[in-house]
Amino acid sequence: MRMYDLITKKKHGEALTKEEIAFTVGGYVRGEIPDYQMSALLMAIWFRGMTDEETTELTLCMAHSGDMIDLSAIPGKKVDKHSTGGVGDKTTLIVTPIVAACGGKVAKMSGRGLGHTGGTVDKLESIPGYRTVLGRGEFFDVVNKCGLSIIGQSGNLATADKKLYALRDVTATVDSIPLIASSIMSKKLAAGSDCIVLDVKTGSGAFMKTLDDSIKLAQAMVAIGEGAGRHTVAFITDMDTPLGCSIGNSLEVMEAMDVLKGQGPEDLREVSLQLAEAMLYVIGKGTPEECRKLAEQAVADGSAFETFCSMVRAQGGDDSVLRDYSQFPQAPYKREVLAETDGFITNMNAEGVGVVSVVLGAGRETKDSGIDFSAGLVLHKKKGEAVRRGESLVTLYTSREKMLDEAERMYREAVQIGSEQPGEKPLVYARVEKDTVERY
Ligand code: URA
Repeated sequence: MRMYDLITKKKHGEALTKEEIAFTVGGYVRGEIPDYQMSALLMAIWFRGMTDEETTELTLCMAHSGDMIDLSAIPGKKVDKHSTGGVGDKTTLIVTPIVAACGGKVAKMSGRGLGHTGGTVDKLESIPGYRTVLGRGEFFDVVNKCGLSIIGQSGNLATADKKLYALRDVTATVDSIPLIASSIMSKKLAAGSDCIVLDVKTGSGAFMKTLDDSIKLAQAMVAIGEGAGRHTVAFITDMDTPLGCSIGNSLEVMEAMDVLKGQGPEDLREVSLQLAEAMLYVIGKGTPEECRKLAEQAVADGSAFETFCSMVRAQGGDDSVLRDYSQFPQAPYKREVLAETDGFITNMNAEGVGVVSVVLGAGRETKDSGIDFSAGLVLHKKKGEAVRRGESLVTLYTSREKMLDEAERMYREAVQIGSEQPGEKPLVYARVEKDTVERY
């Protein structure tokens, strides 16, 4: 078999066979296929797409290119959740303890922030002492004890994806539905849970900017999950504006804790409850209505918050910061950005707001740069809300005083104030299951 022939085949829009995909993935991981040939194939896939069978085969080869985690040491059904990434998306910190408090088992491997989007591991590391690297045995022990453990992705999970993602990142081939679907699902399959709930973001802050593309991506991922014997459900949720009001690592932990304490912004609470309901549903905790009630109850009686605290303690973290936020390290500089006119917030570009948080120090400029856990922003006005001249739109937090002017300028660029109140958009657009798409 020759890579040259496979590139030619895909260039002409033909489907690759199972053996050809295995040859490609295996050869690339072993270093036998050079980056320039793999780049050509990725670009051919970007233009020509892949059939469902090809996408599934690619996913399975990528999943098996590294460790396949066996969660059988944890009794009961294990459920995983994945978000395609967004700004202010701290739902994992809310949803997973709710599910664990209701008897679900969540053995979760999460990622770090990427570009303008945040990552759960960075958020958790803002909790003093919290360890995101655990040995396999300790990881299972924490899940068995607390119902939940969240750690960083193990170095050997879906090895092929690590190499391919880095190549896609520099060859303009990230935004391809079969390539995103196989990348995400290879990691989910390798992580070993029985059931998977996917949160596919749509809008300006998401990979998929349109609802139709988001639904196609969700369908591709659900088909892969179900084909591999994992009960998989996907939701399409809004990422045109940030979720909740806080963006930045410790700021997001505080807001997530607010929701677990029965407070916090309504949009974040609602998306979190829908995801928690779906996770409880896929592991058989009842009808969707019953699962929703269970999730609400776990928040109302404090058990979800206490479950999160117990996981934090089990992983070496100081949970007193979750009860008294003033114990978190505080950013030395802050600035209020004031409205210059009366009106309504007519647009809030999620990606633009995410980039402001990176400039303030909450995200990475390069993959090796450090993170300022206390940096970020808290929105006081969100899309659709009325503002008066002189009112605070947002508070910026940073350790880099010299970046405040630039951050303010960029924030003003990302947010528009106009005279007409924009119509409300849904928070959740659709639910995608094996053979159905339910649009809300
Ligand atoms: N997240 C991933 O893990 N992979 C992609 O390709 C895109 C988002």
